[in-house]
Amino acid sequence: MSYFRPAIDAMSGYVPGEQPPPGKFIKLNTNENPYPASSAVSRAIQAVLARGLERYPDPLAAGFRRRAGEVLGVDPDWILCGNGSDEILTILTRAFVGERQRLRLPYPSYILYRTLAEIQGADSEEVRFEQNWSLSDRFSAPAENLRLALLPNPNSPSGTMLSPERILELADRLPCPLLVDEAYVDFADANCLQLVAQNEKIMVSRSLSKSYALAGLRFGFLVAQPQIIEGLVKIKDSYNCDALSIAAATAAIDDQAWLAATRKKILATRDRLSAGMRQLGFDLVASQANFVWCPHPVAPVKPLYEQLKAQGILVRYMNYAGWGDGLRISVGSDDQIDACLGLLKSMI
Ligand SMILES: Cc1ncc(COP(=O)(O)O)c(C=O)c1O
Repeated sequence: MSYFRPAIDAMSGYVPGEQPPPGKFIKLNTNENPYPASSAVSRAIQAVLARGLERYPDPLAAGFRRRAGEVLGVDPDWILCGNGSDEILTILTRAFVGERQRLRLPYPSYILYRTLAEIQGADSEEVRFEQNWSLSDRFSAPAENLRLALLPNPNSPSGTMLSPERILELADRLPCPLLVDEAYVDFADANCLQLVAQNEKIMVSRSLSKSYALAGLRFGFLVAQPQIIEGLVKIKDSYNCDALSIAAATAAIDDQAWLAATRKKILATRDRLSAGMRQLGFDLVASQANFVWCPHPVAPVKPLYEQLKAQGILVRYMNYAGWGDGLRISVGSDDQIDACLGLLKSMI
């Protein structure tokens, strides 16, 4: 006999990317930043520790909302903070999608979305990307019980993007809110922040895990119109972000010079990785993220993943039913990427 809801019994659960003990691998599998975060982050954490942790944190992280609002040019009331942007996704699905209702997502994209629907006992409806990673109007078609659409932009695993104009078009036609998941947008040429004011249905989520090198901290946020934020506050845990992460995230977003310098290095290495993989015969589309999606037209890629791993380099092998497989390689430092390319060259 099971004590779980039938929806939970029926699901298998999301499996995150492998997190081996530090130092075991050159780690290029979960799109982390290879560089240490701004030094202002550890100073902010030390200052909180010096004050002590006996009090609860600010439930709405007002300090972060104020500073992020200034940096991004939005009112603090339009920001909701979360324990990683994954928590923002959880809050949204809990808020909008009930049992037997429908969540729409593109395919292939972030696998967690489907799990979030499963937890709700909801249906997920996948709309396939076209071969060139554009998305047809089927993504915005009205459908019965459709309550939320999730769209990573840039997408994972492809690293490709839809233009803000296209996203506005899709949102205008959708009968439900659209979350533009911008976990990787700091590595891209465009973003959708401006659209939030234009259409109440458009919400944008951001992560500090990748571009700010804080995956271990767990901090992300949502930008949406204030009446939406107000509703979402009812759902979140009272103290979903702790005092250390709020202070650290505020210091991180304050240091835009660090972000610009780090972004520049990562984009240069992304070019080097993309060129190297193309030379090895992989079939790449241009990436707007801090990873590169590498299917190969002829060589089986799973053995390459396994051989890389055996020699101390961990990349992500992804196999999407009905679409195909490939290696998703995070943009590490130049040395890490050179080591990866060198090994692959000896294998292909
Ligand atoms: C598309 C996408 N959205 C969100 C996340 C979650 O990021 P966070 O670390 O902020 O929870 C990831 C993490 O890999 C991702 O790939």
